[in-house]
Amino acid sequence: MNDAATPTDAAAHPAPAAAAPVKRTPLIAGNWKMHFDHLQAIAFVQKLAWSLKDAQHNYGEVEVAVFPPFTDLRSVQTLLTADKLAVALGAQDVSPHASGAFTGDISAAMLKKLDTKYVIVGHSERRGGHGESDETVGLKARAAVDAGMIPVICVGETAEDLEAHGAAAIPVQQLTAVLAQLTADATFVVAYEPVWAIGSGEPATPAQAEEVGKALRDVLRAERGDDVANATRVLYGGSVASQNIASYMKQPNIDGALVGGASLKVDEFSRIAQFTKHVGV
Ligand code: PGA
Repeated sequence: MNDAATPTDAAAHPAPAAAAPVKRTPLIAGNWKMHFDHLQAIAFVQKLAWSLKDAQHNYGEVEVAVFPPFTDLRSVQTLLTADKLAVALGAQDVSPHASGAFTGDISAAMLKKLDTKYVIVGHSERRGGHGESDETVGLKARAAVDAGMIPVICVGETAEDLEAHGAAAIPVQQLTAVLAQLTADATFVVAYEPVWAIGSGEPATPAQAEEVGKALRDVLRAERGDDVANATRVLYGGSVASQNIASYMKQPNIDGALVGGASLKVDEFSRIAQFTKHVGV
């Protein structure tokens, strides 16, 4: 999951000028979508925390986050604080506006007040189902950053895009457009989610995820420089399960997963979070 250090013979090869490899902490993120009311959410997070405690999970080594519906956030926040749980909290969407007459919208400041660390922006179910443009997604990402949160910027191609342009072209275009809205010092996560792989049980191959992950990192390098490119986590999402997570995490440009369906089953999500046990890293 990280840039591998290349062992060098110091005598034969003087120290390279390149910076030391950067360790990116993997992120396993559970996107619950429109599932679980606040009581179910509390029960789920409690069980997840027990499961990971039993497994002696090191949250510093592999970060775990849940993205409940808005109505659950306060309850989950209260539980996380009261029980001092290290599970991070994320929201599934945010308004691009700071406040005002926007019926039904939730602002970044409201989310930040609930200790929300991450916000998904540009999920294909919002791009497609709610007509969100790259510009809107960029403004949402900016609103999250301005409020002190970390946007999880989703990009991905449809099956038609894949056929017409290959896997990387659309995700690269989407990321480039969103980056144009973000300040140079913004911290964010990128999630590559091929639309055809979401909820389909047909995940991208690890090689395809890596190919696009690499292309996205090249965009980061070109637009933001080496430090941002090396530090930014690129996740894969789309039919991730405990049986396939290890194959993605072996890829040098994949640093975690955005998990939908499998994040609704405690044991399964816990196993995904414990991928180091099956990937041997
Ligand atoms: P899935 O969803 O894991 O159910 O394919 C992923 C997502 O939409 O984030």
